Amino acid sequence: MAIQKVGVVGCGLMGHGIVQVAAQGGCTVVVLEAEQKFLDSGLGRIDKSLAKLAEKAVKDGKATEEEAKAKAAATRARISGTTSKQDLADCDLVIEAIVENLDAKKALFKELGALCKPSTIFASNTSSFPIGEMAIASGRPARFVGLHFFNPVQLMKLVEVVRTDITDAQVFEDAKAFGAACGKAPVACKDTPGFVVNRLLVPYMTEAMRMLERGDASAQDIDTAMKLGCGYPMGPIELTDYVGLDTTLFIVEGWTKRYPNEPAFQVPKILRDLVAQKKLGRKTGEGFYKWEGDKRA
Ligand code: CAA
Ligand code: NAD
Repeated sequence: MAIQKVGVVGCGLMGHGIVQVAAQGGCTVVVLEAEQKFLDSGLGRIDKSLAKLAEKAVKDGKATEEEAKAKAAATRARISGTTSKQDLADCDLVIEAIVENLDAKKALFKELGALCKPSTIFASNTSSFPIGEMAIASGRPARFVGLHFFNPVQLMKLVEVVRTDITDAQVFEDAKAFGAACGKAPVACKDTPGFVVNRLLVPYMTEAMRMLERGDASAQDIDTAMKLGCGYPMGPIELTDYVGLDTTLFIVEGWTKRYPNEPAFQVPKILRDLVAQKKLGRKTGEGFYKWEGDKRA
């Protein structure tokens, strides 16, 4: 595979998972965070996840305890953390997974474009912003793709690989091969708002919130209805807590600004209110529901 050394920017909910699956796929991974405390917390989550997967492999009879522990240790040894952008300079691929803010992402790619080796491929894990705008900001638009992973990255099997009109054909193939090495099924997408999944999923989540606002049904009943009626693993309200209410708000707000007349892209009041109260979902212990760690209370 052309991609051997990978940089990931952001070690939050998504970044830590991307770091882990890239290392599980055999890549050497450097993860950059804004502050050491965020790095420590993200690396701590990777340790817990690797331990959990090792435990599961033993339970399922796929490996002995010794084999599973050795595999987890080898994966962990391929991961290092940094707070200095310079450490990403010689990466073959850099994946950005910072906050869903287009100006912040463009500023980051402008800096990375100036310091990474000319052959480095850039990718964004954005949920909703145009890949083309970040590609131009990076100064190397042909070497830029979207690599959109799903939450929780360790368990979800899809990666959307997004190309713009000027993405180099070999870069796109290398990005798909990387996604497959991470154990994901790559799906090719054009650079459209929300690509495939979020163009369908986010309006469904916001419509469920509007249903709740109107008092058509309770959160619990909306979720139960979609789980039992459609076979979804989570209902739309619980899923919003799982994704993060802040991230969901950033996605919809970005679309409202760009497409003010599109009814499916309007922000529900309840979402704005809960974010203002710092009820961001699973990550803060409360959103629409109360949470204890990764589980509903
Ligand atoms: N690392 C390692 N192991 C993990 C893990 C992780 N990060 N997360 C969970 N596990 C383990 C659990 O501990 C559990 O192990 P045991 O079987 O040993 O108990 C196992 O995996 C299954 O976990 P759960 O018991 O929590 O299982 P579940 O069957 O309830 O599945 C789920 C959890 C996969 C999250 C499932 O509820 C699901 O698919 N939910 C929907 C998720 C979804 O739609 N994601 C997309 C969000 S949208 C997005 O990502 C795009 C965007 O841009 C916003
Ligand atoms: P998060 O808030 O959990 O993590 C973002 C991390 O980036 C934080 O730890 C923060 O300290 C770090 N960061 C911010 N600016 C930085 C910078 N300049 N340099 C280095 N680190 C920086 O957010 P998240 O949920 O992981 O989302 C990250 C990206 O992934 C967003 O673009 C989001 O839309 C996308 N995404 C999110 C989900 C989801 O379900 N939450 C799913 C798919 C894609």
